[in-house]
Amino acid sequence: MRAGGEFDGEKGRLAMYRTRWQAAGFFMVATTGLMLSSCRCTQCGVGPKEAQSKMEVNVEPFGKTPEGQPVRIYRLTNANGLKAAVMTYGAIVVSLEVPDKNGALADVVLGYDNLDAYIQKSPYFGAIVGRYGNRIGKGRFTVDGTEYTLAINNGENHLHGGIKGFDKVVWDDEPVRRPDGVGIKLSYLSKDGEEGYPGNLQATVTYVLTNADELRIEYAATTDKATPVNLTHHGYWNLTGGQRDILAHVLMLNADRFTPVDQGLIPTGEMPRVRGTVMDFTRPTAIGARIAADYEQLKFGGGYDHNWVLDKGGKKMTLAARLSEPTTGRVMEVYTQEPGVQFYSGNFLDGTITGKGGVVYQHRWGLCLETQHFPDSPNQPNFPSTILRPGEKYETVTVYRFSAK
Ligand code: BGC
Repeated sequence: MRAGGEFDGEKGRLAMYRTRWQAAGFFMVATTGLMLSSCRCTQCGVGPKEAQSKMEVNVEPFGKTPEGQPVRIYRLTNANGLKAAVMTYGAIVVSLEVPDKNGALADVVLGYDNLDAYIQKSPYFGAIVGRYGNRIGKGRFTVDGTEYTLAINNGENHLHGGIKGFDKVVWDDEPVRRPDGVGIKLSYLSKDGEEGYPGNLQATVTYVLTNADELRIEYAATTDKATPVNLTHHGYWNLTGGQRDILAHVLMLNADRFTPVDQGLIPTGEMPRVRGTVMDFTRPTAIGARIAADYEQLKFGGGYDHNWVLDKGGKKMTLAARLSEPTTGRVMEVYTQEPGVQFYSGNFLDGTITGKGGVVYQHRWGLCLETQHFPDSPNQPNFPSTILRPGEKYETVTVYRFSAK
C-alpha cells in the first residue's frame, strides 16, 4: 500500500481502495487469512491449526496527518495471544501486550491513544528514528571530501534525523505473514537532500511479532550517493505496563565499555571500561541503584543516556541487554547485529505528557534500549563506519524477546 495511494495488498487479496474506505464512511477491518502449513508454537504447545486460528493481521484506518495523508494501524496477534499495534506514521509501535508471570497481558510501551497526540508532541515514542539515530555533532560531516550540513534540532547538534525525521513521515505498508509470525513491512524513500542528507535512500523496516514471543525488527536500505545511515527503534519500555517509573527495573548490558559524552551528549571518542563505575551493568543491576551517584557522565543527560559498546557487537546476532521487572516477572531480552546500544533512562520525561489511558508520564516512566552504531560516527574515525555507498545494502536485525518468571 502506498502511503498516499491505493491499498493494493498482496496479490490482490486485500485489493480495495482507501478512498472507498473513506467514502463508505464505515470502520473497515481487513483480516488477512493465514495460510500456515507448518506452524508449531513450542512455547504454548499448540499445534499448527490452533496457532493458525490465533495469528492475525488486522488493518484499520488510524486518522490523517494535517496534510491529509491517511494513516493505517496494523493490529498483530501471535500464536500465544501476544498483541502488537504498529502504525504507518513514524513506523511507530503504538502498543505491545505481553504476559506477566500469571499470564496477564499488559501494554509495555509508552505512547498515546490517537494519532493527533503523536503528531503534536512526542519524544519519539515507539518510532523508527532515522536517517541517523542519535546525534551528529554540529550537524556536520564530510564524506569523500564533500562537507554536508544537516538540520539542527538539538542545541547545536542534529538528533534522530532532524526536524522531520523518519519518525514523522508516513511509510508505505504491506502485511507480512510467515509460518512463525505476522507483521508489517514499511517502506520510505528519503529523498536526496532531505534534512541535509546526501542521496535518495530507500529504507524498509519489517516488524514481525513471532510465535517465539519476539518483536523482530529487520532494517534494510540502499542509496544512490554515499550517506550515513543508522536506523533504530525508539520504544519506551515499562514492563509494569506503565504503572510506575522504571527505577526498580533490573538491567544487564552485555558491554564492558561505553562511549562517554561531552555536555552536548556528543561522544568524546574514548571507549573506557565500565568496570568500577556506575556505568557497569555487566551484572544485573536495578536502574535506580546508582542513577543519583555523583558521577560526571550522569550529569550531562540527567541520568543514563549513553551508548554502550557491545562485547560481541558486529554482524553476528548477540545478546545486548536483559531487562526484568521484579513485581510482574516480565523479562525482555534484546538481541542485535549492531555494535552498540543506547540506554536512555527517560530523563527528559517530566510529567508534562499524558499518555495512553490518561496516565501521566512522570520522570523516568519509560526507558529506551536503542540498538545502533555509535552516535556521531561520521565524525569519529575510531568508531565503526556508518557510511552506506551505492551498490551496498544496509541490513541489520534486532529482536526484543519477551518472557516471564
Ligand atoms: C537520546 C536522548 C534524547 C531522547 C529523545 C534518546 O535516544 O539519547 O538524549 O533526549 O532520545 O527522546
